[in-house]
Amino acid sequence: MKNKLLFLGPPGAGKGTQANLYCKKYGLDHLSTGDLLRDEVSSGSVLGIKAAEIMNKGELVSDDLVLSIVEGRLLNTKKGWLLDGFPRNVNQASSLEKLLEKINQPLEAVILIKTADDYLIKRLLERGRQDDNEQVIINRLKIYREKTSPLIDLYTKQGILEGINGNADIDVVFSCIEKALG
Ligand code: AP5
Repeated sequence: MKNKLLFLGPPGAGKGTQANLYCKKYGLDHLSTGDLLRDEVSSGSVLGIKAAEIMNKGELVSDDLVLSIVEGRLLNTKKGWLLDGFPRNVNQASSLEKLLEKINQPLEAVILIKTADDYLIKRLLERGRQDDNEQVIINRLKIYREKTSPLIDLYTKQGILEGINGNADIDVVFSCIEKALG
């Protein structure tokens, strides 16, 4: 079974929801940079305070900070892992590739959860996290298109990306992911 995975998709596509379900069922480590950064924010550390300002605008926090968080976690995982929300730009993708080479654990599959904008906006407004207001959502979508979506091409060229329809119920999307990874 493939167990070195990445879930990619716009904000609200369901990356976190699906990653949680998948990791529980298959015993993988769920590495969500959004969750790890929110933990840092809750701790009230200086880094957390700086990160909160950026996250509340829907911008990306620095590559160095995110990479150091992910590196620490990946070096310590003994089972398979699923990356959610990282990498988010070409520079992060190339740093990830180097790190995975170093630990000899190449990425095996990328699941792209494709979801229409009207679904995304509705889901995020209903959830109402601190960064889920209309203005910030629009910025998160813009950043996704500009900085993250080039990764679709990158992983397609590597032959490891599978697109999934995210405009469906949670259990339907989950079955499609299982089928793609099975
Ligand atoms: P992050 O936490 O990664 O936010 P995001 O990418 O905007 O993703 P979301 O959590 O909003 O969406 P999701 O696709 O995970 O959907 P979810 O399952 O939660 O990042 C937040 C911020 O942290 C960034 O803006 C940035 O500032 C910073 N950051 C994080 N990583 C970074 C990095 N690598 N580099 C730099 N900065 C970084 O679902 C959303 C809602 O929809 C939920 O309420 C859920 O219940 C519902 N839902 C899900 N699926 C369905 C479905 N099929 N049908 C109906 N409802 C559904």
